[in-house]
Amino acid sequence: MDKLVIVGGKALEGETRISGAKNATLPILAACLLAEGPSLVRNVPHLHDVTTSIELLSGMGVRVTLADGMGLEVDAGAVDNVHAPYDLVKTMRASILVLGPLVARFGRADVSLPGGCAIGSRPVNLHIDGLAAMGADIRVENGYIRASAGRLKGARIVLETVTVTGTENLMMAATLAEGTTVIENAAREPEVVDLACFLNRMGARVQGAGTDTLVIEGVKRLHGTEYEVMPDRIETGTYLIAGAITGGLITLKNIRQGTLDAVLAKLQEAGAQIRCADNMITLDMRGRRPRAVDVRTAPYPAFPTDMQAQFMALNAIAEGTATMVETVFENRYMHVQEMERMGADIRVQGNVAVVHGVERLTGAPVMATDLRASAGLVLGALVAEGETEVDRIYHIDRGYECIEEKLGQLGACIRRIPQ
Ligand code: EPU
Repeated sequence: MDKLVIVGGKALEGETRISGAKNATLPILAACLLAEGPSLVRNVPHLHDVTTSIELLSGMGVRVTLADGMGLEVDAGAVDNVHAPYDLVKTMRASILVLGPLVARFGRADVSLPGGCAIGSRPVNLHIDGLAAMGADIRVENGYIRASAGRLKGARIVLETVTVTGTENLMMAATLAEGTTVIENAAREPEVVDLACFLNRMGARVQGAGTDTLVIEGVKRLHGTEYEVMPDRIETGTYLIAGAITGGLITLKNIRQGTLDAVLAKLQEAGAQIRCADNMITLDMRGRRPRAVDVRTAPYPAFPTDMQAQFMALNAIAEGTATMVETVFENRYMHVQEMERMGADIRVQGNVAVVHGVERLTGAPVMATDLRASAGLVLGALVAEGETEVDRIYHIDRGYECIEEKLGQLGACIRRIPQ
């Protein structure tokens, strides 16, 4: 297992480029199952989760080939099985995204039920109930979701909880259903919008993406298309915090404005100066210590749970005390104990963390527990005195493309130690 070794204390300065969004790429690759012809998907990030997706689709008979640059050609013209095995699903929960497309196009699916997860129980009951409402017959047996259906039928589905991949799965399924599907209390995340744009390019009729009501008029078939995945807003936010926590001046290229407003507002409250122009963003925090900022996570457009650990690192060295509330996942404070080992002063009670800013963190050996928690630890390490060794960084490689190269471009002292 590779490690990252970071020597902290250097103000970051420079620019780097943001990659395609992981959480848009994964549903878009799954959506390729819906089309009869090949699609060319561009701006695909080079990440472990993308490799897992390719492995999953290839196992079903989908032909995935590397096109020029960062493009993938995905052809689901010769799918010969509808099986998503436990071995892959357990390493990547987003594998569940093949369920809706498989049932909609092939009338069958055999998808392992994702097991437990480090950040919460994360059930998929709403995915299953929604497909059942569209007429699929679904049983859970031997750890697998086994679904069968004739052509799905449009339905009105009111989601009990806002779910991102649940909304995506049902939206994809509805594109090939007979009649109109209405999904209420739908997730409004930009990645849901990106998927809807991709589906519409394939010939689907999805309206309302970005609002809480999606209306999908089913069509008989979808065709392949070309598409460029949106930039990763969570990667953008993570590097902005890297600039802020070190008192730096950084510019990020290839960002999507308007997808990160809640995070930018909090960074400004912390004292950062931010300028956006032409898909670039510059953050200036030179000569200033951040102020503590209260944060409450919630579905988009509120502050994302995927930025909570990173913002906690910022609050850990801020002036003052911040209250952070995690409302999306029930166990997403696994980074707290590791941050405490670096000298942070954090008290957790239930889903509330009270972070008393300290003047300095100190380097320590720490262990990553999930993707965003790892990012939080890397950020802490960038400002900590001395050397921090972040272990189990395979979590980071799932969601951050070349993190050591990009932080290196910004002037951080960071190296990967292959094991
Ligand atoms: N939930 C249910 N039933 C369901 C589905 C969800 O109760 O059937 C609950 C979950 O337990 C959770 C809440 O709904 O409490 C929201 O979960 P959601 O379904 O929205 O999460 P997800 O779709 O599994 C996606 C991202 C996550 C991100 C969350 C929240 C992808 C591939 N994953 O997960 O990303 O944290 O939305 O924004 O899009 C990450 O990138 O590190 C990551 C974990």
